[in-house]
Amino acid sequence: GKDKELIRGSWESLGKNKIPHGVIMFSRLFELDPTLLTLFHYTTSCGSTQDCLSSPEFLDHVTKVMLVIDAAVSHLDDLHSLEDFLLNLGRKHQAVGVNTQSFAMVGESLLYMLQCSLGQAYTAPLRQAWLNMYSIVVAAMSRGWAK
Ligand code: HEM
Repeated sequence: GKDKELIRGSWESLGKNKIPHGVIMFSRLFELDPTLLTLFHYTTSCGSTQDCLSSPEFLDHVTKVMLVIDAAVSHLDDLHSLEDFLLNLGRKHQAVGVNTQSFAMVGESLLYMLQCSLGQAYTAPLRQAWLNMYSIVVAAMSRGWAK
């Protein structure tokens, strides 16, 4: 329906420039919660948040995140087909010390990136459409924390 059109339409351009948009998103996330930076063990050697954000390992993670979003956007019609993948992804994040509560801030950072990148095209219905998709992804990942 309308949600899917809004998401696909907005991702069309953003998805072509994954790294810069992902960097905006994670810069925002570390502003909201700087302690999350320490969960990336390879960042212990960087001097500043800015240095961390441009390290190759970190940019790899940014790319991975954007590819998951890309997968969700291309599977909007059958998001449940990503269930097992997302559950396992959640498990891996539990293992590296991520807390499910942090996903609310990741969501906020995603919306912040969309707002920065889309300008006028960032509307209330578009925001809600992305929130709806994001909450499905997060719910699936969060199952990775359950016993
Ligand atoms: C792997 C941290 C959010 C997707 C990892 C790793 C860390 C990490 C430390 C392992 C090292 C690495 O691959 O760089 C975090 C933190 C997050 C976060 C602190 C925010 C609270 C996300 C989100 C997604 C995601 C929202 C996608 C929706 C991935 C993927 C991997 C990964 C695909 C690779 C998993 C594998 O090795 O199979 N993450 N992550 N991450 N993360 Fe995240």
